[in-house]
Amino acid sequence: MPDADLYELTEQYRAEFPIFRSATYLNTCSLGALAERSRKALDQFADLWSRWGASAWYEHWLAATDDVRAAFARLIGADAAETALAPSISAALSTVVSGIEFSERPRVITTELDFPTVVYHFLARRELGVETVVLESADRVSVPLEAFAAAIDERTALVATSHVYYTSGAIQDIAGLARLAHERGAWCLVDAYQSTGQLPVNARELGVDILLTGALKWLLGGAGLALTYVRGSLIERLRPSVVSWFGVEDQFAFDPHRLTLRRDARRFELGTPAVPTVYTARAGMELVEEVGIGKIRRRVSALTEDLVERAWARGLRVRGAATPQTRSGIVMIEHPEPAAAVHRLMEAGVIADFRPGAVRLSPHFYNTTDDNERAIGVLAG
Ligand SMILES: Cc1ncc(COP(=O)(O)O)c(C=O)c1O
Repeated sequence: MPDADLYELTEQYRAEFPIFRSATYLNTCSLGALAERSRKALDQFADLWSRWGASAWYEHWLAATDDVRAAFARLIGADAAETALAPSISAALSTVVSGIEFSERPRVITTELDFPTVVYHFLARRELGVETVVLESADRVSVPLEAFAAAIDERTALVATSHVYYTSGAIQDIAGLARLAHERGAWCLVDAYQSTGQLPVNARELGVDILLTGALKWLLGGAGLALTYVRGSLIERLRPSVVSWFGVEDQFAFDPHRLTLRRDARRFELGTPAVPTVYTARAGMELVEEVGIGKIRRRVSALTEDLVERAWARGLRVRGAATPQTRSGIVMIEHPEPAAAVHRLMEAGVIADFRPGAVRLSPHFYNTTDDNERAIGVLAG
């Protein structure tokens, strides 16, 4: 599809996001913008609560959780039985990793570019014998496959890293990494929070064992809901010690005498889900599906390259991957005082974000090159 058509696509959907009436929004990697249809979904949730009270669970809300699992499964090319809901990536990690046996293989390989909650989770298990190796990044953009290859050994249980680094927007070769891990008898856990919704992600093609993501960012679903994928053949090999009544075979039997975990990935569900987010997430994921993930990737890639070129043209330094194929919609513009720069952007009506040493701009399919120009104009001014 030529870029002009993709631009029309943006125009068609942009009106659904009221934030653009008052601001230039370039911060999807922190929080996706609220679509009208997600706000309506929230109203629908409140109406059901108001009208039905607890009966809404049986008449509507449990079915809505099924819809979200099914939408997630379609998004990543999995079966719904391989998916589960969680309150956050941190909670999803807690339950899934509690089912992994580390006694013979105590090592976990991760990187300093990964989101800290992943690294913290394993560091906190030091007393339980888990050895966490945090690979360093020489360029603060990515970690080469060779560095993983050198670190993964016969004592390694797990490689746990991101599909897209929140720190640089670089897209990792997860298929290559999963292959490496498997050749050495380890599993591959991927934090896909910054990739699902902006890149095509197929869990089977990537060959990952566990994939975690959430509704908050590129899936436009709001805060309070993470999504777990566990490869079908792995599910029953993992017996989590962190469990809940949502993860058992006959949940509504309330049997306190035996624990029979579900045979599907829902054994990893942790308690009552945040139903308002189930509603907003369902609407956000429907929108992503309607637009089409292939088109979204092409549009976001075009906007990313446009941002990078505008930054370069003004002499700004971009910290990012080397090629358009390995760049994603997170553009880090180096800045000596990023907090002050984000404040200036805010005063000019541009909502962005910063991380140490850089301003972070993240366009989604609803952005335009005019948005990019507004942000770069302020940063270069
Ligand atoms: C890559 C990545 N992983 C995880 C998180 C957060 O995880 P949690 O759901 O535990 O807050 C974020 C950002 O909020 C992130 O960017």
